Amino acid sequence: MQIISTTPELRDRLKSEPSVAFVPTMGNLHEGHVALVRQAREHGRCVVASIFVNPIQFGPSEDFNQYPRTLEADCAKLEGLADVVFAPMVDELYPESQQVFVEPPPVAAELCGAFRPGHFRGVATVVLKLFNIVQPQAAVFGKKDYQQLHVIRAMARQLNLPVEIVAGETLRAADGLALSSRNGYLSGEERAEAIRLYRNLVRMKESIVAGGGDYAALEHAAAADLEAHGWRVDYVSVRAVESLLPAKAGDAGLVVLAAGWLGHTRLIDNVEVCVSSGRSL
Ligand code: PAJ
Repeated sequence: MQIISTTPELRDRLKSEPSVAFVPTMGNLHEGHVALVRQAREHGRCVVASIFVNPIQFGPSEDFNQYPRTLEADCAKLEGLADVVFAPMVDELYPESQQVFVEPPPVAAELCGAFRPGHFRGVATVVLKLFNIVQPQAAVFGKKDYQQLHVIRAMARQLNLPVEIVAGETLRAADGLALSSRNGYLSGEERAEAIRLYRNLVRMKESIVAGGGDYAALEHAAAADLEAHGWRVDYVSVRAVESLLPAKAGDAGLVVLAAGWLGHTRLIDNVEVCVSSGRSL
């Protein structure tokens, strides 16, 4: 496995590769990231993972400076799984002030986008830059960041990018908490409480599958349960998988998404729900 930090070196390394599968990350890798890298192997002869904490997707009061940087441990986890790790410095990707951005679709201003203005613009822009540098035939993104996956898919389709976007399932701890680099910020007490997010999503899924069609009531009940246990809830929302717009009667593919704060840590999660056809809501 080679660790490369500049674009010319990376281009030189990849120029004779017949196909490249790519997994972009911000590092501090856990088993969820590792699973995506394993999955990438099915989509290209050469597997490239990037590690780059992207400044333009963090808001001014967010955790860019605090975000854990653990390159050595990350590379140890990727050994034998990735062929190349691309770990550029900020100046390598942003040698001049970035003035050209990808404008994500309007749904990027909802859900997490409503609480993190400019976040998805920053994500889409860096992912397009990375795609242009790596030129992968496939790239793997986790469903853990469901809205991000939606935005990247829309970008790839609407900008005719020659890359297949592959989705990876969310990896969870034994108790169900979605693995996340930000889980490391949680105190022991918060870690025990964190599972309530997923439990509420699963409860909502079960209610919907059992015929509960009043999504607003379900959203409200989940938010109230979280807030009663010390969470500050950003949103709990039932959405249509295809559009990520609020779910309507008759939508068969749904996803329940939620985000909330435990102390100083913001956690997100989601659960897909398949509503059996023929049932009237
Ligand atoms: P990061 O948060 O490091 O996540 C990198 C990839 O790992 C994303 O596709 C994310 O959805 C996926 N991932 C995170 N937790 C996961 C889990 N528990 N199970 C499965 N996959 C998981 O997402 C980013 O970085 C950045 O926004 C990036 C796309 C790299 C652009 O900067």
